[in-house]
Amino acid sequence: MKSVLITGANRGLGLGMVKFLTKNTKVENIFATCRNVSEELKNISETNKNVHILHLEAADVASFDNLFPQISKVTGDQGLNLLINNAGTSTKFTKLNLVKPEQLLSNLTINTIAPIILTKSLLPLLKQAAQNNSDKPVGVGRAAVINMSSVLGSIAQNDVGGFYAYRCSKAALNAATKSMSIDLKKDHILVASMHPGWVRTDMGGKKAPLDVDTSVAGMFSTIQKLTEADSGKFLQYDGSELPW
Ligand SMILES: NC(=O)c1ccc[n+]([C@@H]2O[C@H](COP(=O)([O-])OP(=O)(O)OC[C@H]3O[C@@H](n4cnc5c(N)ncnc54)[C@H](OP(=O)(O)O)[C@@H]3O)[C@@H](O)[C@H]2O)c1
Repeated sequence: MKSVLITGANRGLGLGMVKFLTKNTKVENIFATCRNVSEELKNISETNKNVHILHLEAADVASFDNLFPQISKVTGDQGLNLLINNAGTSTKFTKLNLVKPEQLLSNLTINTIAPIILTKSLLPLLKQAAQNNSDKPVGVGRAAVINMSSVLGSIAQNDVGGFYAYRCSKAALNAATKSMSIDLKKDHILVASMHPGWVRTDMGGKKAPLDVDTSVAGMFSTIQKLTEADSGKFLQYDGSELPW
């Protein structure tokens, strides 16, 4: 895997992924997208010349095509091996009597529409990487899309209700994962949904049992091992499968 793009890379799990890749791998190009560059991400990019910070506001889908020339300028004709649609949001109000249409729409925009349209925009780069590495098996050695979902998007595992905006947006993202896995099979591009576990970030909160490093190490260990048979699956950070 030579090139990786991670959205929402300025804090939380996205930043943890950038740190993991710089410390533990020889990935040639790490594209870290964010709408606000954090001090930590800036420092990492200054000491790791393979970290390229790109601006991406997930709500501004019209701007996504601008990323293509910025990435291909760096990768040449190598393309992009791994796209991690990580940026996500969750509304504060989770109960039916408090839910508002604008919250439903904003969660859908960031958590579902943005990952679909970004994948569409970057597809030529993913195809390029899959073709250039045709000697390798389907997986991150060729090209893969990981959609950062959540167990809260699982309909089968919903036994407490609520969380309308977040649950619906992640269930819809899971539906997109399934369609992409079917549509991109002919291009040898793997697509999976990933639940990072319940992790101590701004979104996960202080009570979450997992730290960012454990979740991220688990996710990359799982991602590295994915094969064609895993495309279209909903996986947890530790590699176990979740029900839709
Ligand atoms: N933490 C958990 O327990 C947990 C569990 C299940 C799933 N997840 C999923 O894992 C992913 C990462 O979550 P996290 O825990 O790292 O959350 P976080 O700490 O709240 O970070 C969210 C990231 O998404 C970015 N983002 C949000 N809205 C954006 C927008 N409109 N445009 C561009 N970027 C935007 C944020 O950037 P800004 O700084 O600009 O806001 C930030 O980088 C999300 O998809 C989340 O749903 C997390």
